[in-house]
Amino acid sequence: MTRTTNPTTMTAVVQSAYGLDAIEVDERPVPSPGPGQLRIKVAASTVNPMDLHLATATPGIVRFVEGFRRPKHEILGREACGVVDQLGPGVTDFEIGQTVFGWMTGAFADYAIADADHVWLAPTEMTEFECAALPIAGAAALQAIEIGDVAGKRVVVNGASGGVGHYAVQIAKARGARWVAGVCSCKNADFVRGLGADQVIDYDSEDFASERWDVILDCIGNRTDAEIRQALVDDGRWVVIGDSDMDGVFGPLPRLVARLARWRFGSQSCHWFVQGEDVRYLKELATLVGEGGVRSQLTETISRADVRAGYDRIESGRTVGKLAVDVAAARRVDPIEASGQTRVPS
Ligand SMILES: NC(=O)c1ccc[n+]([C@@H]2O[C@H](COP(=O)([O-])OP(=O)(O)OC[C@H]3O[C@@H](n4cnc5c(N)ncnc54)[C@H](OP(=O)(O)O)[C@@H]3O)[C@@H](O)[C@H]2O)c1
Repeated sequence: MTRTTNPTTMTAVVQSAYGLDAIEVDERPVPSPGPGQLRIKVAASTVNPMDLHLATATPGIVRFVEGFRRPKHEILGREACGVVDQLGPGVTDFEIGQTVFGWMTGAFADYAIADADHVWLAPTEMTEFECAALPIAGAAALQAIEIGDVAGKRVVVNGASGGVGHYAVQIAKARGARWVAGVCSCKNADFVRGLGADQVIDYDSEDFASERWDVILDCIGNRTDAEIRQALVDDGRWVVIGDSDMDGVFGPLPRLVARLARWRFGSQSCHWFVQGEDVRYLKELATLVGEGGVRSQLTETISRADVRAGYDRIESGRTVGKLAVDVAAARRVDPIEASGQTRVPS
């Protein structure tokens, strides 16, 4: 007989005010799924630049969406992989016990709530940590690649060693780009080459804008319009994924809007987007993983007690691949202790 437990409290990484100093690990009530929602027993999550922007209300416009005085989502973490633990009313597409990945609120907690159309079955070819890394960065890379329409084209990924960039290199190759170059620092050249890049451009000694590209997938946003125009072929596309300026109330928004207006004319085009949380992206990512076209590269896994330090690392802008959070660490059964044996000292 399977015994089900019905916990009432759980451990969570919470933040009752904006600012990284307000982040702490505490106990909270276990949430219940509403109509069309699932409760997920979380195994793994990751830290993204988006988490940093939300936690610090940077740029200020975050407060319009996330709460003026304090974050309305007290429990942190926006993506995860875990096991379906409870179905809300009306959910028929999933079963309890299935392992899923996707976007959700409160992912740095033992249990998180997800809309049923924001998760999909986790690909079995990767670990739960690797699956947890896919939704935000993987879907952003996929969306950018769709906008760039990369098949048969010469593509450069600016910021190829980061979370989004490392997926963008792999997906561009899998989607039939003719040539994929990755821009990174010298120390990350082998990492980017290992992703399958045909060319690695060390930004300290080379300038990707001195060559001509059909598509520029830009995770960094550190070049002027004039430099990008110079670097694109006549009908080239510049897909802006990230931007280095997050200051002020509106961050990069005024500049991005003005840029779109400037790029309306002429054969070259500029595009930017806010990631759509569309389950289609999760399905496509799972397919790409199944075909061997994409793997998540995790360069570090931290515990929930270290999440604050994880935000600092993301803020440094130097993380390579993805930074995973082991949410289930305390629940993992040590096979030696479980068997009652004594551990041999190492
Ligand atoms: N539009 C959307 O919906 C969407 C969705 C997701 C993410 N984003 C945005 O996309 C951007 C990238 O996200 P991410 O998760 O990839 O960030 P990330 O993982 O934090 O990026 C860190 C990487 O950037 C590299 N980097 C830093 N400066 C660079 C430079 N001048 N040239 C080339 N590479 C450089 C670093 O490598 P080195 O140490 O070697 O420099 C590091 O590996 C962020 O701004 C994020 O907010 C947007």
